Amino acid sequence: MPFYSDDIVEEVRSRTDIVDVISQYVKLHKRGSNYVGLCPFHNEKTGSFTVSAGKQMYYCFGCGAGGNVITFLMNYENATFPEVLQELAGRAGVELPVVEPSKEAKQQADKRSRLLEVQKEAAKYYYALLRSPRGRQAYDYFHKRELSDETMRKFGLGYSDKYSDDLYRYLKSKGYEDGLLKESGLVTFDETRGGHDKFWNRAMFPIMDMRGKVIGFGGRVMGEGEPKYLNSPETPIFDKSRNLYALHLARMTKKPQMLLCEGYMDVIALHQAGFDNAVASLGTAFTTGHASLLKRYTKEVYLTFDSDGAGIKAALRAIPILKEVGLTAKVIHMEPYKDPDEFIKALGAEEFQKRIDAAENSFFFELRILEQNYDMRDPESKTAFHNELARRLLGFQEELERENYITAAAEHYHISYEQLRKLVNTLGARGYGKGTEPQPQQLRSGMNHKNKPENANLQAQKLLLTWLSDRPELYESVRNEIQPEDFSEPLYRKVAQLLYEQYENGTPNPAQIISYFSDDEKQSRVAGLFHARLPELTSPQEQEKALRDVIGRIRRESLEMKKAQVDVTSLEEMQRFIDAAKANKR
Ligand code: UTP
Ligand code: MN
Repeated sequence: MPFYSDDIVEEVRSRTDIVDVISQYVKLHKRGSNYVGLCPFHNEKTGSFTVSAGKQMYYCFGCGAGGNVITFLMNYENATFPEVLQELAGRAGVELPVVEPSKEAKQQADKRSRLLEVQKEAAKYYYALLRSPRGRQAYDYFHKRELSDETMRKFGLGYSDKYSDDLYRYLKSKGYEDGLLKESGLVTFDETRGGHDKFWNRAMFPIMDMRGKVIGFGGRVMGEGEPKYLNSPETPIFDKSRNLYALHLARMTKKPQMLLCEGYMDVIALHQAGFDNAVASLGTAFTTGHASLLKRYTKEVYLTFDSDGAGIKAALRAIPILKEVGLTAKVIHMEPYKDPDEFIKALGAEEFQKRIDAAENSFFFELRILEQNYDMRDPESKTAFHNELARRLLGFQEELERENYITAAAEHYHISYEQLRKLVNTLGARGYGKGTEPQPQQLRSGMNHKNKPENANLQAQKLLLTWLSDRPELYESVRNEIQPEDFSEPLYRKVAQLLYEQYENGTPNPAQIISYFSDDEKQSRVAGLFHARLPELTSPQEQEKALRDVIGRIRRESLEMKKAQVDVTSLEEMQRFIDAAKANKR
């Protein structure tokens, strides 16, 4: 990994406006001198996520995630420090120096970029082949499936040739060694045949990561054959649980939801019909990883799975996963067609939009499927179903939401509202529904949801740092009374020391201090230090008094701390402490 000097990092950072960058991902509203929005790192309904233009920092009062613009992009894009720096440098027009990375880092980065290169070469090769005479059959196949040339281009579709070592020989000729090719998943080796291609005589679908770089492939037989789709294995650059097909396109959509489909062809058909919000998981089950990926770009996911039994099962599996990360799920019905690809071919985009508009709430979808296990003409069975319904209604944590669902369910199942409400309450009182509460989510910032209660001294130290960063005019007077050593917590002390240095050298620059810390958790804590909740102080007298209180407390505690450490045999030193303590009392 390349190493960049602090100066160049700071140059790139200072030429970037954090508000500009974050607004591309989070809808921000101006509030006072800050901007506020819904935190992209945890699930919330009211905005605790604060971006400060003055400090060039962000901080979430809900989950404690925080940092500067570099931290933000690293977390949000799941990118490495050099990647973010390069991206921002490009934006800001700063030229990064070429630097010598460490040997190990270099090898690892090299491996990844070589693997990416191989995938790109392969994609180019398949792409060209599709458009050559040898690719005629595949081209016709795509055509028969009504894909336009533009769509084929947009999705980089290709063809893998009939010869079983066609790609292998091509990549060898380009100088890629066997070890790398084996690791790429594109070539397999065995003793008798040597190297041969994983994909041959298939219509090829390159799989791209969020930045549009090819990381693997899906290949379909043209016509009948098993398996219908063959997919690249996982490799160091292809993690199936962290990627979704076409997300690099769908993330740019202006539509309010994401459409989650089962397969490649469904996604492509939807995009071609104007639904640029379609994605699919990659021949694997949908996971929490996928859900949190979607969570970055949307609040609602509409399931666009096949209408058959397997599709229903997949939807029932996906719904709780989506809910767990705080996404709303709905189910799109495509009857009498099997999947969106067939639906659109038969009825067109407008009709599909109607199905989107009529998508079923996932709660009622689940119940509708559940209901099939009960005989509604039998009073006992019907009662059992109502009990199950009530138990599920208890699962809604928020009172208003639960209330709304009770009303809707009562209407839907022709039960009296009062009776259903009573049933829910009775079950609730008996403790049902407990233990189904959603677990506090693991935040990507690695922070815990609940911050430990802080003692007053730490709170005072935080307040002082926040004040110092908000109001430079305070520094002169504070400096005479509080030194960085007076901050008891090592992290606070370090931050104070850096902030004081900045003041001595000119201007405070809190966002630069973030860069000093390399781990995520520390960066969040430092951002927290500069975002203490300030009491509402209106008059200058009140403000002055609050400042005096804070300074007084920090000094007192600092003296206590030093007293505890002082060598009691040194009377002289002891006397100095007593004097200092007296001075502080005044
Ligand atoms: P389907 O069998 O429903 O195929 O598999 P499909 O998407 O309708 O494909 P077409 O229209 O016949 O071309 C749904 C998805 O499951 C995965 C693929 O991602 C596929 O798109 N799959 C299916 C496999 O990975 N391997 C298989 O053998 C079959
Ligand atoms: Mn299909």
